[in-house]
Amino acid sequence: MAEAADDRTFTRVAAVDEFHNDRGRMVYYHGTKVAVFRQGESFFAVNDRCPHMGAAMSGGRITNGVIRCHMHGWEFDVTTGECKTKHWAKLPRYEVRIEGNDILLRPILDEQATNPDDDLDSFMAWDPSKETS
Ligand code: FES
Repeated sequence: MAEAADDRTFTRVAAVDEFHNDRGRMVYYHGTKVAVFRQGESFFAVNDRCPHMGAAMSGGRITNGVIRCHMHGWEFDVTTGECKTKHWAKLPRYEVRIEGNDILLRPILDEQATNPDDDLDSFMAWDPSKETS
């Protein structure tokens, strides 16, 4: 009897040599858009949808472990997914495995439960006039 597919299986999504340093690129993980970033020899992967207004995170850049959204500049710690600009926001991350020239991903399950739409109430309650920075 065949076992059910493990949707946490590492899946090849791209090749290492397709990436430029400090840049992101969108890939598909089983139909889900994921932003993969290269910083030196390290690779990081997060959901490709910014929790602010949905811009493609893959259009941003990574500097010193921080991904900056190209649209309005929100910043996210690549090691936790936590937003440094708005502390209620978070980017779900993926585990990255490098095998030769292949980049493989699998989701970190407890983080995948965080849908950017879940943060809509916090976003709607956000009053920019009360921002201090
Ligand atoms: S859409 Fe990303 S900071 Fe606004």
